Amino acid sequence: MAETFQTDHYAAYRMDYHDPHRELEPPEREIEVVDQALTALHTAGALPHTGYDHAKMLAHRDAVKELFEIPWTAISPRMQRLLYAISAVVQPQNMIAAGIFCGNTFISNAGAAVGPGACYQAKQLIGVEIDPDRAALAERNVRRIDTTGVARIVADDALNVVAGFDGPIHLLYLDADGTPEQGKGIYLDILRAAYDRMPPGAVVLAHNSLNCAERLRHYLAFVRDPARFRASVNVVFDPEGLEVSRR
Ligand SMILES: C[S@@+](CC[C@H](N)C(=O)[O-])C[C@H]1O[C@@H](n2cnc3c(N)ncnc32)[C@H](O)[C@@H]1O
Repeated sequence: MAETFQTDHYAAYRMDYHDPHRELEPPEREIEVVDQALTALHTAGALPHTGYDHAKMLAHRDAVKELFEIPWTAISPRMQRLLYAISAVVQPQNMIAAGIFCGNTFISNAGAAVGPGACYQAKQLIGVEIDPDRAALAERNVRRIDTTGVARIVADDALNVVAGFDGPIHLLYLDADGTPEQGKGIYLDILRAAYDRMPPGAVVLAHNSLNCAERLRHYLAFVRDPARFRASVNVVFDPEGLEVSRR
């Protein structure tokens, strides 16, 4: 089922991709907006509840700010908080994130299980990046926060990693931009490769659900089909958007 959570003035909530840690609004406002998004997700059936630890989220954010080398990122502070909160709520044992560049998106997902923001124990948290230099940077970044090895980066095509993964996939995060011909159309290929191993309650997150909506139209039709996903909500609180879908 297609549903949208949209804030007023979302287009005016603009970050500088090269200055991702700059505060864009008072913390209370950021928390309020993300709480509203979590409530909309819960009401639609896309999340089992909305609770997460705000202090742990801030500890995670501070560690990323201090330890990560981020050449640029399109992950806004609202999006960082939402990704962390979704992982804290879903507590995926196994997670695959596809197309993670320097690892900032990946650690937003994984930070609920590793490092100072950890609130549960996961088994395998895998970030996949096809560009070997970017993958190496992401791995260096992740190692500074996670000394356990539960979170790790694989330099490969996400399609290969998902197809070869042995076990259930509880959270799939999609951000790969594919070949110039495919673009973000690759999301649907990756999801199809994972779908049969996503158990009931598993969640798939698609970044750029707003600014790449046209390229993602087949993907969005797939996740919004109630025969395939019990709920799917487009979270529009920044100019990029995140489609959250739950099996
Ligand atoms: C736009 S970046 C994601 C950046 C992220 N949204 C952020 O703001 O930090 C997309 C990444 O996907 C990678 N990529 C493209 N196709 C891929 C594939 N098939 N498998 C894994 N990674 C892929 C690219 O190399 C690129 O680093």
